[in-house]
Amino acid sequence: MYRSHSCGELRESHINNEVTLAGWVQKTRDKGFVVWVDLRDRYGITQLIFDEERSSKELLEQARNLGREFVLQVKGKVIERTSKNSNIPTGDIEVLVQELNLLNPSKTPPFTIEDQTDGGEDLRMKYRYLDIRRNPVKENLIFRSKVTMEVRNYLSKEGFIEIETPYLIKSTPEGARDFVVPSRMNQGQFYALPQSPQTFKQLLMVGGMDKYFQIVKCFRDEDLRADRQPEFTQIDCEMAFVGQEDILNAFEGLTRHLLKEIKGVETVAFPRMTFDEAMAKYGNDKPDIRFGMEFGELNAVAQHKDFKVFNAADLVVGIAVPGVASYSRKELDALVDWVRRPQVGAKGMVYVKCNEDGTFKSSVDKFYGQLDLANWAKATAAKPGDLICVLSGDTDQTRTQLSALRMEMAERLGLRKKDVFAPLWVVDFPLLELDEETGRYHAMHHPFTSPKPGQMELLETDPGKVKANAYDLVLNGNEIGGGSIRIHDKDIQSTMFKHLGFSPEEAKAQFGFLMDAFQYGAPPHGGIAFGLDRLVSILGGQETIRDFIAFPKNNSGRDVMIDAPSPIDEDQLKELNLKLDIQS
Ligand code: AMO
Repeated sequence: MYRSHSCGELRESHINNEVTLAGWVQKTRDKGFVVWVDLRDRYGITQLIFDEERSSKELLEQARNLGREFVLQVKGKVIERTSKNSNIPTGDIEVLVQELNLLNPSKTPPFTIEDQTDGGEDLRMKYRYLDIRRNPVKENLIFRSKVTMEVRNYLSKEGFIEIETPYLIKSTPEGARDFVVPSRMNQGQFYALPQSPQTFKQLLMVGGMDKYFQIVKCFRDEDLRADRQPEFTQIDCEMAFVGQEDILNAFEGLTRHLLKEIKGVETVAFPRMTFDEAMAKYGNDKPDIRFGMEFGELNAVAQHKDFKVFNAADLVVGIAVPGVASYSRKELDALVDWVRRPQVGAKGMVYVKCNEDGTFKSSVDKFYGQLDLANWAKATAAKPGDLICVLSGDTDQTRTQLSALRMEMAERLGLRKKDVFAPLWVVDFPLLELDEETGRYHAMHHPFTSPKPGQMELLETDPGKVKANAYDLVLNGNEIGGGSIRIHDKDIQSTMFKHLGFSPEEAKAQFGFLMDAFQYGAPPHGGIAFGLDRLVSILGGQETIRDFIAFPKNNSGRDVMIDAPSPIDEDQLKELNLKLDIQS
């Protein structure tokens, strides 16, 4: 037996017990006549003691020579500490070591294995296995496991069956690039790694598997951000004989269960908002509704005066930022500079200070009087002490810019509180989105999403206006899940492919299997997929999903620990009959 107890387990009640522990040396303190060693494992830290009085000379010498991260097994007796440490659960006791077995020495680690480490991001990624020994990373992985277990328990209890679908497939068009895998046995041909199991889960519905789920890796070759990894995990779900309402209820149930079990947070019915409403109120299809600052449209009260900039704009829109009317001239200038940064892209910003005495002071006093500004305050629900920030220009761009400013101000004012959870459904997404570059329409969600009832005709006349049976679950300003009611009729699916610019031959070559399946009694069906990494990190109070993934990729899509991607052998290339033509 390697150990009788873990390093986090021993308490006063164990005093006088003979125990065996195993773990890593966190640190040693040598006072000459006494040596203390902190021994760590996944469960905690236990202090070991060696002293001149009670330990042999050899044992004391052995303890003195231990370095950080050495792996030990020790046998000894639990004794009461003379000076107790209330900061750790094992702080009342220590183990008087009788036998020390060095299981493995260690090189000095390249950074300290402590909560506040001296290691930079790159170094910690290169030695991720050491980083995982640190509490913050370890706790995140344990937290993830707990969430995953809760998901499995809940869905299993609700009658969902977990079914694995293949990783070596044909490309699924979800909007990103595929990662491809060359086939040795079928030379010149490639598998694609799934961007999601979308078509397979639909085939499972045709196969009668009614309620399916899978915690599954998905692969997307897209630009990376804090909330995106090239391989990530979905909680992928599909149900047959359901409408949108059934899906929303089922997965609101799952989310509510997780918030309660994991965070102890009770939630009422999740609010719902249409895509159009979300864009008009928050300039964003994944609004953070933990705080106000809703958009106030000002066209009616700000245009047709002498201010040319506003008159020329499609949209004049503002937000009331709470409590910052007291900003100095310097702070206001800095804010204007902030919205002008290329990342935000506004040309400028108009502001109105709502003074405590009910008067207003604006950057456009030349054009607008107190009565005008009072109307602006009404439209943005500004109160005395608030600062109204107004942007104008092209509708979509202006909304995006103001949304960025709203989030920035919420961040600065500490309104994005980690322990507040504000879920929301965004529904009625547009079916299609126009690609400005190619002038072609793409499916906004994916090509299997059904249009809202009675909107098929609009596809011919005004495709951009067609709304879909598609929904997203948003939590604290993050899209944590998305899904739709699918098309289950072959002819409608063919029409959809036609509108998406597929020729009948292309549609058959890529999706013949699905359209064939639809001819054999495909039931009405729909589903959703949650981003597990995102869900876990938001529940964990963070927005960087990397921190909740054991071995993540860096921003260039590299695993710097195993050094991947990397070239492959000449022999491997030959076997696959691949020739590289890369000019370096
Ligand atoms: P969608 O593409 O919206 O839908 O993906 C579902 C959820 O997966 C998460 N997600 C990601 N997480 C981390 N890194 C990424 N690169 C990444 N991309 C997406 C998001 C997102 O909400 N097949 C459909 C689902 C369906 O229709 O049922 C799909 O994959 O949280």
